[in-house]
Amino acid sequence: MSTSLPAGGPADSGVYLHLPYCASRCGYCAFVVTTDPSSQASYLALLAREAELVAEEASRARFDSVYLGGGTPSLLHPTEIARLLEAVRARLAITEGAEVTLEANPEDVTPERVHAWAAAGVNRVSVGVQSLEDRELAAVGRRHDAARARAALDALVTAGLSVSGDLILGLPEQTAQSFLESARALAGSGVDHVSVYLLEVEKSKVMEADRRARPERYLGDDAQADAWLALSALLAERGFRHYEISNWARPGREARHNVKYWTRTETLGLGVSAHELWAGRRRANVSSLPAYLAALESGRRPIAQDEKLTPAAAARERIVLGLRLTEGVRRSAIAEAVAASSDARLAADYGDWLAAEVLVEDGDSVRFSEKGFLVSNEVLCRFV
Ligand SMILES: C[S@@+](CC[C@H](N)C(=O)[O-])C[C@H]1O[C@@H](n2cnc3c(N)ncnc32)[C@H](O)[C@@H]1O
Ligand code: SF4
Repeated sequence: MSTSLPAGGPADSGVYLHLPYCASRCGYCAFVVTTDPSSQASYLALLAREAELVAEEASRARFDSVYLGGGTPSLLHPTEIARLLEAVRARLAITEGAEVTLEANPEDVTPERVHAWAAAGVNRVSVGVQSLEDRELAAVGRRHDAARARAALDALVTAGLSVSGDLILGLPEQTAQSFLESARALAGSGVDHVSVYLLEVEKSKVMEADRRARPERYLGDDAQADAWLALSALLAERGFRHYEISNWARPGREARHNVKYWTRTETLGLGVSAHELWAGRRRANVSSLPAYLAALESGRRPIAQDEKLTPAAAARERIVLGLRLTEGVRRSAIAEAVAASSDARLAADYGDWLAAEVLVEDGDSVRFSEKGFLVSNEVLCRFV
């Protein structure tokens, strides 16, 4: 199939590939990952086979984003990354100029690998920085220190790739000041995109137990909220636009692939535990690695869930996902959802959210305010 279609249009699709292999497991992580590399070669071969199985269904689609996520995709040898991207290009119509993102852990980034990734067609790298304070990195078992993360960012920026850095707010040992220091250093490192996640402690039993036993190691909710607002001001001053709850970008550097999730643009999901929205259906692959390998070995797609969305479910998704974006959603869509809801208190609460400036009506749209993002979960769950 052609690899040189003209540049993509707004309705072009995306494809996500999950690479579950990690060198070790970090204290907070609940993603589907494995630290046993023994199945990696067959996994890569079967991932290409999965792309072949979806190719017919996707034969009329054009893809202007490819996302290699994990796990730790940067753990693969660069030739394996090149081969995987080649297999995807051979089966799906990837447009010329497509955004091709690789998630990388700092310890894997060297100038030689960056060169090889770029030669394979990677043009955007999302680096799991998490913090630029050694004490915080050590507290969650990261394999890199702050100096290694800075060197990784530098190598990527120097090579001219589009670079994003992830930070986590709420790490053990983190203070508001140390968090803002990390953010300041990341913003000044040459990256054009920043993602900041609130630590989800409940995703790890070990971390949850630690927070209960040693609460003094963790920022309280109010301190986290203040740090979040200060972060947003700091990034805005440095030219980053807050475009989604957890994401900031320099103009034009928004993550094209991830924006598809929030705008409900079709994306395929390949690999263990991957999710997709395709042809009006939400599907999820099995999250067990042996089950994934077994399904593909017998020539079947490894799908565990497959739901055709009703118009009402699609409308709810448009609100819950669209409100994550700073541009928000149409006022009429919210009004219809409030009117159709069986939640008798929703109309009154919606009025309260406007009065408290958690939500802001702005022309034809409704969006979260900056402080509203902090309580977005409470609002969004009412529209599900
Ligand atoms: C899919 S993970 C993989 C990233 C990459 N393997 C790494 O460790 O740098 C993407 C991001 O999710 C975030 N993340 C993972 N677990 C989290 C948790 N429990 N709470 C908040 N953010 C989390 C981290 O910032 C991480 O960089
Ligand atoms: S945070 Fe990244 S490196 Fe750590 S276990 Fe999760 S996916 Fe693997």
